[in-house]
Amino acid sequence: MSKKNTKSPRTEALSQILFQQGFGTRRECEGLIVHGLVQVRGEVVDDPDADFMSDGLPLDVDGLNWICHDVALVMLHKPAGYECSLKPGAWPGVHNLLPVPLRRRGLQPVGRLDQDTTGLLLLTDDGPLLHKLTSPKHHVPKVYEVTVKHPLDVRQQSALLAGVVLDDDPQPVKAESADMVSAHHLRLTLTQGKYHQVKRMVAAVGNRVEALHRSAIGRLTLPDDLAVGQWRWLDEPALVLP
Ligand code: URA
Repeated sequence: MSKKNTKSPRTEALSQILFQQGFGTRRECEGLIVHGLVQVRGEVVDDPDADFMSDGLPLDVDGLNWICHDVALVMLHKPAGYECSLKPGAWPGVHNLLPVPLRRRGLQPVGRLDQDTTGLLLLTDDGPLLHKLTSPKHHVPKVYEVTVKHPLDVRQQSALLAGVVLDDDPQPVKAESADMVSAHHLRLTLTQGKYHQVKRMVAAVGNRVEALHRSAIGRLTLPDDLAVGQWRWLDEPALVLP
């Protein structure tokens, strides 16, 4: 007769929770616990097999306060000078801006920003969500604050709204909106995610991008109090879904 599993399916051993959150190998996680370095809701727990429900569980792991997230979705205020690639080349990767547990969990950027682009970047280890947010079918609008070299004019604005042809696709790409905030500040909303799309669209209408910042994705605006280089959990994925 098979041994009956008496554990509730919704609880897990603390060592397993730490491992899944990215605090190290199974052995390292057990070590942290037996050495008294892990607190759960403010109390030291030194039994690696103590069971808890993980999602939302507040931990202190060797001085790091941590709210467990079974799936990770975070927003990052990307600075210039960082690459979104998982194998960065000339510049450091955005993963360097995340705490070690999230780096270990291998979060993927939801679409990429260029090295010199700043602003709102999402990262997740939720495969289906990543697919939804990056699939061209889903048309999640993204807002870019574009500083341009030459003064904007109505002809450029109309062309961006009517659609411009880029060199890799005969189908014109249109901006959802193109607001001239000032002579050199264009606010562009795009629903596609083509390579260097803003820079190429602006070049196609005879101007040039001097600086680029993403201020919103879907209904999520980059929070004013999220400083450059800082990250935060995003607990409401619905804000960035179409
Ligand atoms: N379009 C660009 O040209 N660069 C970005 O980083 C994002 C959108």
